[in-house]
Amino acid sequence: MTWRASVLTLFPAMFPGSLGQSLAGRALETGVWSLDVTNIRDFARDRHRTVDDTPFGGGAGMVLRPDIVDAAVDSVADERPVVCLTPRGRHFTQADAQRFADGPGVIMLCGRYEGIDQRVIESRGMLELSIGDYVLSGGELAALVLLDSIVRLLPGVMGAPDSATEESFSSGLLEYPHYTRPAEWQGRRVPDVLLSGHHGAVAAWRQAESERITRERRPDLWAVAANQ
Ligand code: ADE
Repeated sequence: MTWRASVLTLFPAMFPGSLGQSLAGRALETGVWSLDVTNIRDFARDRHRTVDDTPFGGGAGMVLRPDIVDAAVDSVADERPVVCLTPRGRHFTQADAQRFADGPGVIMLCGRYEGIDQRVIESRGMLELSIGDYVLSGGELAALVLLDSIVRLLPGVMGAPDSATEESFSSGLLEYPHYTRPAEWQGRRVPDVLLSGHHGAVAAWRQAESERITRERRPDLWAVAANQ
C-alpha cells in the first residue's frame, strides 16, 4: 500500500522540493509513497482570493480564516491524522516519525502569516507540531523535514534496515563516531580498537562512545536513557 502525504499550503511550488531528490525522490517515483499538494488559496471565495484577515483583539500580522482552511482540509480528509506545523506545537521526535510511518499517511497544514484561527485547529483535532525553538517564515520547510524523516522509515526506502535502528535517537542515545580509510590522516589515527577485528570490543567501544557523547552534548537525553 502506498503511504500518502497531502500538503495544504499557500506556496505549492515549495513541494516536493528536496523530497524529489535522493532516497525520498526515488521512493516517490517508485510509488512507495505519494504526495499531493493543495493550494489553500483555491478555497477562497472572493474576487481577490482572500485567505486571511486581521486578528480579533488587534496586533500585528494576519490570521488564516477558519472557513477557508476547513474547506481545504475537507478536500483531502480521510482517516489520516492532520498535522499543523507551528512553532507553538510540541516538539516532533523520532518516535512521532515512526508512528506516522506505521500509519496510512498524513495531512500537513502549513501556516503562514501570524497563524491560523484556533477554532479550525480544534474542530479538526489537528496535532500541532514544531521542529524546534526558532521561527520559520512558514510551515513548509517544517513539513519537508517531517516528511523526510518519515519517508526514510517506510519499508523499502533505506538500503540497510539496520542503519535505521542503530542510528541516533532510536536507542535514546546519540550515535558513536564513524571512521573509514585512510587509517591515518593528517596525523590523526583511527582508534586502534576499530582496526582490531575484535567484534565484541568494537561493540563495547561504540556503546561507551555513544554514552559519553550523549552525556556531554545532550544531558536531557542522557537523563532519560540512564533511567531505562
Ligand atoms: N512554522 C514556523 N516555525 C516553525 C517551526 N519551528 N516548526 C514548525 N512549524 C513552523
